[in-house]
Amino acid sequence: MTKTLKTGLFAITVLATSNIAFANDEAGKKTYDQACAACHTSGVAGAPKTGDLAAWAPRIAGGKEALYASAIKGKGIMPAKGGQTAIPDEEIKAAVDFIIANSSRL
Ligand code: HEC
Repeated sequence: MTKTLKTGLFAITVLATSNIAFANDEAGKKTYDQACAACHTSGVAGAPKTGDLAAWAPRIAGGKEALYASAIKGKGIMPAKGGQTAIPDEEIKAAVDFIIANSSRL
């Protein structure tokens, strides 16, 4: 009885955790499509292209926090938050995570 209960709880925990991870990926992609893809998919104005491992490797090497800060505050000709300042920081970070996940061998 107790064992069954524990196994059930474990399964629920695993399911809940994987659902959260999935939701974050989706949120990152949504924000990316909305605010970042215009430049980062085609490489407009020298933007490092998503999926270009060589372009991203040195940037990723500088650490995630630095990339979050650049995306939130802007860098070079990239405006803060890709120009869409109404987007919350957490969603911008999810979009950066989405770029990193698709631009590295991790
Ligand atoms: C108007 C075009 C444009 C848009 C929109 C844009 N970017 Fe960029 N992004 C750039 C350019 C250009 C660079 C290169 C900046 C440099 O290194 O001088 C860049 C660089 C970056 C970097 C690397 C920063 C670093 O420190 O090396 C990250 C991360 C990034 N963008 C994330 C995002 C995210 C996330 C979004 C959407 C919220 C976004 N960008 C929207 C043009 C854009």
